[in-house]
Amino acid sequence: MEHDKATFEKLIQEDRATRETRSWRGAFLEYLERIKEAPDLPKLAHARLHDVIMRPGVHDIIESDDARVKRLFKDESVKVYNFFADEFFGIEKVVAQIARYFHSASLKGEESRQVLYLMGPVGSGKSSLVEKLQHGLEESEPFYAIEGCPMNEEPLHLIPRHLRREFEKMLGVHIEGDLCPVCRFRLKEEFGERYEEVPVVSRTFSKRNRIGIGVVPPVDPNNQDTSVLIGSEDISKLDIYSEGDPRVLDLNGALNVGDRGMVEFIEVFKNETEYLHAMITATQEKVIPAPGRHGMVYVDTVIVAHSNEAEWQKFKADHTNEAILDRIVVVKVPYNLRLSEEVKIYQKIIRHSDFRAHVAPHTLEIASMFALLSRLEPTTKCDLMTKLKLYNGEEVVEKGKTKKIDVHELRDDAKREGMNGISTRFIMKALDNALSDNIAGNCINPITVREALINMTKEADLPDDTRKQYLDFLQDILHKEYLEVLEKEITKAFVYSYQEQAESLFQNYLDHAEAYVNKTKVKDRNTREELQPDEGFLKSIEEQIAIIGSAADGFRQEVIAYLWAASRRGEKVSYRSYEPLKEAIEKKLMTSVRDISRIITKARTRDEEQTEKYNAMVTNLLENGYCDSCVDVVLKYAANNLWKD
Ligand SMILES: Nc1ncnc2c1ncn2[C@@H]1O[C@H](COP(=O)(O)OP(=O)(O)OP(=O)(O)O)[C@@H](O)[C@H]1O
Ligand SMILES: [Mg+2]
Repeated sequence: MEHDKATFEKLIQEDRATRETRSWRGAFLEYLERIKEAPDLPKLAHARLHDVIMRPGVHDIIESDDARVKRLFKDESVKVYNFFADEFFGIEKVVAQIARYFHSASLKGEESRQVLYLMGPVGSGKSSLVEKLQHGLEESEPFYAIEGCPMNEEPLHLIPRHLRREFEKMLGVHIEGDLCPVCRFRLKEEFGERYEEVPVVSRTFSKRNRIGIGVVPPVDPNNQDTSVLIGSEDISKLDIYSEGDPRVLDLNGALNVGDRGMVEFIEVFKNETEYLHAMITATQEKVIPAPGRHGMVYVDTVIVAHSNEAEWQKFKADHTNEAILDRIVVVKVPYNLRLSEEVKIYQKIIRHSDFRAHVAPHTLEIASMFALLSRLEPTTKCDLMTKLKLYNGEEVVEKGKTKKIDVHELRDDAKREGMNGISTRFIMKALDNALSDNIAGNCINPITVREALINMTKEADLPDDTRKQYLDFLQDILHKEYLEVLEKEITKAFVYSYQEQAESLFQNYLDHAEAYVNKTKVKDRNTREELQPDEGFLKSIEEQIAIIGSAADGFRQEVIAYLWAASRRGEKVSYRSYEPLKEAIEKKLMTSVRDISRIITKARTRDEEQTEKYNAMVTNLLENGYCDSCVDVVLKYAANNLWKD
């Protein structure tokens, strides 16, 4: 047995050892020595978070291996931050804006005195982005604090004002901030002002333990108590101590707790204006009031707030809020609009959940397509499904040509795109519903998920025209789209060595088209016989994508020119190289087996040869990701829907 008692024990011991080496306690004087060795120890909160984001590295999105990404981002430089990259998909530009905020804030620019505010529709990832930052802090190096300080404050605050310049020079650091009332009191009463002896300890960020990470939930409007933010006076102690004695203070509000790290304001504009003023003062002035009569307390924290757009608009419309508005850096967090990335979102959520069912091929794609269609704005330049594919970096073929529509222009025409539509949570619910309808099979597939989406859309609280449109996406557009996908899939499973056959059609087409264009002859690859180019064969491919009559000449020339250029660039040429031809070849293969697939799939009884073919196809599907349950469902669906008699 590999994981025995000894293994567990070893893990525990090792973990304890690393924790112990990381944790530290010493007098303030020793802390100064530590800073001398590592002058970035006392860094401010924004710089700390900036380091957290930058440490795993940054690269340009164009370095991706994915041809679709290269196509989409060829004229812009978008940075990918590894810190976010394996959990956030399709929102690279949002992430880059967040990183930029931290960059300038870390240089103590104006941003360091402004609130970072994430605004976007439900389920667009706002909370998750903030959680990611919080986890980043929790996993970062420990920070140093005055032992026993309720705000874990920076020990350098102990240095009296008149000595600071000298210490700054000696240590090579900048010192800002003053002792909190509690530490000030203790310094005097406990240490007789001998600040060099005050103990300093290392602390690890923890949201749960409220160390360096504070959270402000939306507040009950009937309860405007600011103690949630700045702590309170302990009434029971008010009898013991005199007025103004800091021992009565409970500095345990979110802004106290978040000193050194960050404070999150959830649904921020639901809060009373009074709260918002405290939030603004905390970032702008870096001070907060202490409860009762204890003056102001220095804080160093990153304030991150988020809410949906409706709340933001309402807040913005109120002119009395102008001063607050001026102190907010707004980052819009729209929904992702790239199909490949939407699929990754659900894969991630499923991976992190208890969802353990089989997911049939194309299930998440179809569900994602629905989400995306609901988010896209219509354009006069193309239909919505085409737009979806263009946004995904795909090449869309129309009348034998790849469509030349500029994605940037499409985006510019639709500035609000991504701020409305179906949320990730809606889709996840549909996946769950589809599963609970098929507990026995423990599998979800595009057919059952589409049904679940239809039912949920019917029941959802939506305006009638929106509902109608969503149902149209599901019952018409996605129905057709899925049937196309499915037919291709079944063809691939039917055609013995699909790839080779496609390549061989491609090579043949090239030989004949080239001879046709150059007015030469084709040398038969086997017999070496010289033949006239076979126009009938060329046409049989071209007609698959509606290239007929006089258009054929032009098409043949384009194919040859395109592939010639590609091979001169040193690219490996295959049947996938030129999108229109690829589509024609795939359709040709589909047509060639359509009759037999239909007959064999629909047959109630099959003869021996048919049974063999059928079984071979099923085996192929099983190898390509289907399970016993969905292969049945999908083939029945194909029999009933794909090949209408
Ligand atoms: N672009 C994305 N990349 C990765 N995951 C995403 C993305 N968008 C949403 N998600 C995931 O969707 C789920 C819902 O997101 P989250 O709870 O962060 O949304 P939110 O914006 O805070 O919504 P709300 O306004 O309802 O609070 C999370 O699991 C989140 O990780
Ligand atoms: Mg949220």
